Amino acid sequence: MSNPFSFHLIASDGTARAGEIETAHGRIATPAFMPVGTQATVKAMMPDDVARTGADILLGNTYHLMLRPGPERIAALGGLHQFMNWHKPILTDSGGFQVMSLSQLRKIDEKAVTFRSHLDGAMYELSPERAVEIQRLLGADISMQLDECIRLPAKRDEIDRAMQLSLRWAERCKRAFEGAKPGHALFGIVQGGDDPALRIASAKALVDMDFQGYAIGGLAVGEPQAVMLSMIDIVAPVLPADRPRYLMGVGTPDDLIEAIWRGIDMFDCVMPTRNGRHGVAFTRYGQINLKNARHADDPRPLDERSPYAPTRTYSRAYLHHLVKANETLGAMLLSQVNLAYYQALMLGAREAIAAGTFNDYRVSVKAGWEEGDI
Ligand code: GUN
Repeated sequence: MSNPFSFHLIASDGTARAGEIETAHGRIATPAFMPVGTQATVKAMMPDDVARTGADILLGNTYHLMLRPGPERIAALGGLHQFMNWHKPILTDSGGFQVMSLSQLRKIDEKAVTFRSHLDGAMYELSPERAVEIQRLLGADISMQLDECIRLPAKRDEIDRAMQLSLRWAERCKRAFEGAKPGHALFGIVQGGDDPALRIASAKALVDMDFQGYAIGGLAVGEPQAVMLSMIDIVAPVLPADRPRYLMGVGTPDDLIEAIWRGIDMFDCVMPTRNGRHGVAFTRYGQINLKNARHADDPRPLDERSPYAPTRTYSRAYLHHLVKANETLGAMLLSQVNLAYYQALMLGAREAIAAGTFNDYRVSVKAGWEEGDI
């Protein structure tokens, strides 16, 4: 019998919070960063290495896994945790966002989103009920409602329509989720684009439905950082203090620090792994592009003070060589280095919140990035 799903706050510092989520597959310390494991793998990384960077939870994608290898197959093979040999918590996104960005010929109506697979052109239908069913078959500890996320800038009418549809889909997902196993949760997703009134209306309606956690979606979709942060400032106070808050698809280390400051508990983003595969390292000195010729003769590691061994061990010259030679190990090492940096940033945030010094922490990590690569 697994533990029930729960969230409790351990400390707060202004609006920043540190807490703990309990799930069927264990605990998640918050603020938490979730590495993206879209296709049942965090690209270029072994599951043990993902755990060694400090990750408590990773993110999987309904959209990709429904197309290949199929949720029924994964369920028959023991569920996503077993399938990919990751035994800590998993959150799955519901698919709506990926349908909009990856598939061709999509049609959204009240009932469902219908789309053509980007893999083989086959037609699929994803309804709120099917999105919940797929996430149940995968065995996700945290499932997300199906929503419609639109790019910004967009007309207010269009933002309103997508937000209202997402609310109706939230209700259907909630109903479809009834009877879920203990330790599993469903989160609602706040939409409303860059419109304060629509954001507040969306958050209030979702809170009335009483979800176990709340995500803020539809951000980092083309708007400036200041707009994204102002939307968090508007939405966070409407959300209940005793439920986790997840900012979807965000972001840079600076986005994370600023969002934590405003009361966000969870994040996911492809940035550390994608940029790592493209030769960019995230460090306490900011981003370092290892493709640059200036690293070719540099014997120094990326950060001699890093708590993560690979970041202290390999020279910039070697990493430059691996990246230039397109070697798989370059992508592997930089994915690890970057995820370890993101996790260290979260650990530092949790400790600073507990100590009541989050603003000092925020100022000092930003000063490190600005000082640059010395
Ligand atoms: N990932 C990033 N943004 C979003 C969003 O608005 N909705 C969903 N479902 N996933 C996202």
